[in-house]
Amino acid sequence: MDAEVVADREARIRRALEHLRNDTTDQMEKVSPFEAVDYTDPDLARRERDLVFGRVPSIVLHGSEIPSTYDFKTVELPRNNAIVVRQRDGGVKAFVNLCRHRGALLEEEASGRCRLFSCRYHRWSYDIDGSLRTITRDNTVGDVDRAQHGLVELPCEERHGFVWVVDNAEGEIDVKAWLGEEMDAILATYPIADLHCIRSEGFAEPVNWKIMQDAFLDGYHIQYAHPNTAAKHIHTNVLAFEDFGNHCRFVAPRKTIDRFLEEDPGDRSLVDFVTETHFLGPNTTLLKQPDHFQLLTFRPHPTSAEHCVMEMRLMVPSAEQMGLDEERYERLWEKNWQILIAVLHEEDFPVLRASQRGMRSRNAGSMLLGRNEVANQVFQRMLRRLLDAGEE
Ligand code: FES
Ligand SMILES: [Fe+2]
Repeated sequence: MDAEVVADREARIRRALEHLRNDTTDQMEKVSPFEAVDYTDPDLARRERDLVFGRVPSIVLHGSEIPSTYDFKTVELPRNNAIVVRQRDGGVKAFVNLCRHRGALLEEEASGRCRLFSCRYHRWSYDIDGSLRTITRDNTVGDVDRAQHGLVELPCEERHGFVWVVDNAEGEIDVKAWLGEEMDAILATYPIADLHCIRSEGFAEPVNWKIMQDAFLDGYHIQYAHPNTAAKHIHTNVLAFEDFGNHCRFVAPRKTIDRFLEEDPGDRSLVDFVTETHFLGPNTTLLKQPDHFQLLTFRPHPTSAEHCVMEMRLMVPSAEQMGLDEERYERLWEKNWQILIAVLHEEDFPVLRASQRGMRSRNAGSMLLGRNEVANQVFQRMLRRLLDAGEE
């Protein structure tokens, strides 16, 4: 890794350590207000689907989930059911998951491998490049312009190890432009494309997607909501933060850093004493751990303001790279995964479901994000920008 990147990271970690010593944290300029109706209004939810997910790229998969030609995954996006499939040239394409005959859901499996997508209703079939291959009994069907009845393609790009989609067939995709110079350069320094997605699971929750996303940008709730789990390892409300407009990142000190509260760490690297979190707009938290990455995505429900799907993924080195035999490797990551799942189900989800119930109060009064809730403010500001731009 280049020397500048390393020096910059060490400087940020030292800023976090200084905050820890002084009981301070990085802050935004102002407290930022919001309203309960932001989490229940069906019209706002529709605008978010169209003006956010229909406009900008978001991550749907890690590339290793569809490693070979003919591998596919289906995914329910806010505006379209989609199929993402690895092509013969090694690239990736995304299509609306719908048969162009009478509209049956074309592929019902969550994932698999196939040479043709074949509709179970009347067996029309499509190549993995989306072209219509077979019309059954086509002498009786009549004139069909096959070129006009291939699968509808969604803008899709693989970059920094992830597959990104704009959920709009009329949209365009430029992941680099959306990330911006800084975040694109940061992701380029990470080996994510060489890692394997060893676990991936979705959780459908009766909660607005923004309430969910907010909880995973929040360094302020740890000690209160996770006193016996995360709070044992990570300090609460101490962040060194960088704002990249639609994205941001922050380091939070782990408790192991406490030995340097008094002692000067000198020139030694402190990377193992922090977690580094990235917010990738519009709906993703990427956590960089010392030896792996954890990805959290939050997707609005296609019709309801009060439901969403959260997906969690672990991207890890191979057993070989880690010098572990298969059994120990599997045991290690399974244990890791189960700890994460338990915290979600037992600690985060109950609080967030109850927040959604709270937001249904018609006289909620206004609420606020504190100056310390830096990443949440970036998330909120990004959404407001996209919605405002869309409504001009
Ligand atoms: S709806 Fe798919 S073949 Fe008829
Ligand atoms: Fe949490």
